[in-house]
Amino acid sequence: MGKQSFYLTTPIYYVNDIPHIGHSYTTIAADVLARYRRLQQCDVFFLTGTDEHGQKIQKAAEVCSKTPHDFVNTVVDKFKDLWKHLNISNDDFIRTTDERHVRRVKNIFRKLFENGDIYPGEYEGRYCVPCETFWTETQLDEGRCPECKRSVEKVKEKNYFFKLSKYQTQLIEHYNKHPEFVQPESRRNEILQRITSHIEDISISRSAVTWGIQVPMDTTHTIYVWIDALLNYITALGYDDDMELFQKYWPANVHIIGKEILWFHGAIWPAILLSLNIALPLKIFTHGWWTIEGQKISKSLGNAIDPLNIIQLYGTDAYRYFLLREVPFGLDGNFSYSALITRINSDLGNDLGNLLQRTLTMIEKYFDAVIPEYSEEDDELKEASQLTQSKINHELENLQFSKALEVIWEFIGNANKFIEQKKPWTLAKTSEDRPQLKNVISSLAKAIKDISIFISPFMPDTCIEIQKQLGILENNESPCLEYHQSIKNGIIVKKGNPLFPRIEKEPDIPGKETIIPSKKQ
Ligand code: MSP
Repeated sequence: MGKQSFYLTTPIYYVNDIPHIGHSYTTIAADVLARYRRLQQCDVFFLTGTDEHGQKIQKAAEVCSKTPHDFVNTVVDKFKDLWKHLNISNDDFIRTTDERHVRRVKNIFRKLFENGDIYPGEYEGRYCVPCETFWTETQLDEGRCPECKRSVEKVKEKNYFFKLSKYQTQLIEHYNKHPEFVQPESRRNEILQRITSHIEDISISRSAVTWGIQVPMDTTHTIYVWIDALLNYITALGYDDDMELFQKYWPANVHIIGKEILWFHGAIWPAILLSLNIALPLKIFTHGWWTIEGQKISKSLGNAIDPLNIIQLYGTDAYRYFLLREVPFGLDGNFSYSALITRINSDLGNDLGNLLQRTLTMIEKYFDAVIPEYSEEDDELKEASQLTQSKINHELENLQFSKALEVIWEFIGNANKFIEQKKPWTLAKTSEDRPQLKNVISSLAKAIKDISIFISPFMPDTCIEIQKQLGILENNESPCLEYHQSIKNGIIVKKGNPLFPRIEKEPDIPGKETIIPSKKQ
């Protein structure tokens, strides 16, 4: 039987500025899910990319006195570079300026037009450039954008409209038939309520914006950047001129997005797909927002607390761990250096790092560095390990990353307690306790190997480092990712440096104090 396919996506990010913690959060979460599904032998296609057209980017390029084209190329490299540093395992990276995307978007726009779902009209209202969103007067919040609270522009232009209202009933039906379509449930209820109460046709072209994909039937217009962007999820799969990947992977198993773009993904995107007669994605998971030391991420703050800085200071895996452990996926969270350092010192250093160090030390001391022979029957940690795996599966099925990590750390805690209870240092004193000592130590080695696999989607480098120190992985081999497989006889451990050395103080980052006046001591 063929492998089960699993298609997951991140939003494609605007390239008006360099990537910050928020962007890295979604991408890391998607990466963990992709790696987890690969562990489960799924045939995974993980897509991310960049959203490069529109007024916001046109303006950002002007400010830098660059052509939009040169400007986007520079910023895209920063995203790609960060994903490399963060160990992101995406299978494709789509740019909305890619020729393949532009060509396919034009074809799709024409299809929508031929289906009778696009018509010319006149738009009069407000437009928020940073959010690239049209707003009506009544939607404004004291005259400002209800989403980002910035000022909005008056827009009056001839536009093409998409018949969103035509799909209201079908959307409601879909939501009712598939309660899991949008998660968490609170967000699903919100958007369903909005779709049910009021839905209008939307403008999907701009005559005043030149940096975009031209409307195929009317070159005086460019396609509204959100329509251009949403289509990436199918153009990357070749829709509609090279359908192999599309047939294999569509519908997407999950679109992971931030909460502020749910309307586009939960109403406009499914309506476009309905118009094209394409199946809807199976799930849209909406996560919360990070603030930094209690403040909204702004350009200056984002630059001062650049993910690359954090990675340089503490390493990729500590950063990946922190973001997914600290806040339940779906809720808002606050980034602070003190919270990050606490997690590194306690969860990673004390719990995980020490478990490895003390076990390897005992193997060196009591068994000349050779892992003693393993006996499945005498493994007192085996059941707990199997239970941990099934709990992780349950949590990751629901994208509950922090809960999955809690479950893993519970097992790490059990293994540490097991050492305290069994007191191997006492067992080592007499020869009649030697068989028991062997069982305790080989069970621990096996538990650590299982832990390295449990954490591998979250901390891929740490998985490799643990397996190297355990001696089960040679330099350039890929890690062993087979759950519950016992360790071969005669393996010699190679104890190395502590995985996560203790961090004593917060970093001195130039400008941090002035940017973070509310910082707690
Ligand atoms: N280009 C659109 C998305 C088009 S998808 C077809 C866009 N881009 S964005 O650059 O603004 O990125 C938005 C996404 O970045 C959010 O949905 C979220 O995934 C992530 N985040 C940006 N800031 C964030 C936080 N402060 N916190 C958490 N994630 C946030 O919208």
